[in-house]
Amino acid sequence: MNIANKTVLITGANRGIGRALVNEALRRGAKRVYAGRRNGELQNADDRVTPLRLDVTNLSQIQRAVDEVDTLDVLINNAGVAIYDDLSNSEAIEQHLSVNFLGMFKVTRAFLPLLQRSSGAIIHSLSLVALAPLPVIPSYSISKAAAFNMTQSLMRALLAGQGVTVHGVFLGPIDTDMNRGFDIPKASTESAARGIFDGLEKGEEDIFPDPASQAIAEGWRTGAAKALERQFAAFVP
Ligand SMILES: NC(=O)c1ccc[n+]([C@@H]2O[C@H](COP(=O)([O-])OP(=O)(O)OC[C@H]3O[C@@H](n4cnc5c(N)ncnc54)[C@H](OP(=O)(O)O)[C@@H]3O)[C@@H](O)[C@H]2O)c1
Repeated sequence: MNIANKTVLITGANRGIGRALVNEALRRGAKRVYAGRRNGELQNADDRVTPLRLDVTNLSQIQRAVDEVDTLDVLINNAGVAIYDDLSNSEAIEQHLSVNFLGMFKVTRAFLPLLQRSSGAIIHSLSLVALAPLPVIPSYSISKAAAFNMTQSLMRALLAGQGVTVHGVFLGPIDTDMNRGFDIPKASTESAARGIFDGLEKGEEDIFPDPASQAIAEGWRTGAAKALERQFAAFVP
C-alpha cells in the first residue's frame, strides 16, 4: 500500500519511533495523520496532523478517538513500554501486557470497522525479542511475543479474507528513550520509520526495518516457524 493520500493513525506519536513515523507519513504525502498521545502536547506545525488523546489502556479514550476519526487507511500500533525486571513478580508482566499486548488488541478491535471499510492495513510494532527473549527485559519480551502471536492468528489469518492486511514489524535496537541504558549500535528513528513504510509499500507481512533486524530476515522467512504459521493458517475456513 502506498501512503500518498492515505489517512494514517499512529499511537505513541509524541516521541521516539512514533514521532518519526508521523514525519515520514507526511513526507510520503499522507492526506491526514492522527497522532495519538497519552499525555501532554504534540508539536507538529503541519496542518495535516490531528492530535488525538489516546492512552491505549483506556477504553473510553479509545472509543472517543474512534468517534473523532471519519476514515482510516492505516493503523500503526506503535505505543509501548519497556521496563527492566527479573521475573520476580507478576506486576511487571501485567504492566507490559496491558500496554504492549492488550492495548494493541483493543485499539485494533476498535478501529477495525473503519479499516474494513477502506480495505486498509494494520501495522504492529513488534521487536526481535518477540522471536527470542532478551532476558534483561523478560516481561517486555513476553508481551512482544504475545503481540506477535496475536498478529499471526487473530489478525493475519482471520482478517485475510476481509481485505485488511496485517503487518508485524520486527524492530532491532533503535535510538530512543526506550533503550537509553543499552550501549549497543542503534539505528536512527528516521531510518526505522522509512524501513517500516518501505515494508508496507512492498506488501511485506513481516517487516525488518533496520540493519539488526535485516540480518535475520531471510532466515525467518524461509524457516520452520514461518512454514508452520502458513500451515496452521490454512485451518481458518
Ligand atoms: N527503541 C527500540 O530499540 C525498540 C526496539 C524494538 C521495538 N520497539 C518498539 O517500538 C515502539 C516505539 O518505541 P520507542 O523506542 O519509540 O519508545 P519510546 O521512545 O519510549 O516511546 C514510547 C511511546 O509509547 C507511548 N506510550 C507508552 N504507554 C502508552 C499508553 N498506555 N498509551 C499510549 N501511548 C503510550 C509513549 O507515550 P508517553 O510519552 O506518554 O510515555 C511514547 O510516545 C514500541 O512498541 C517499542 O516496544 C522499540
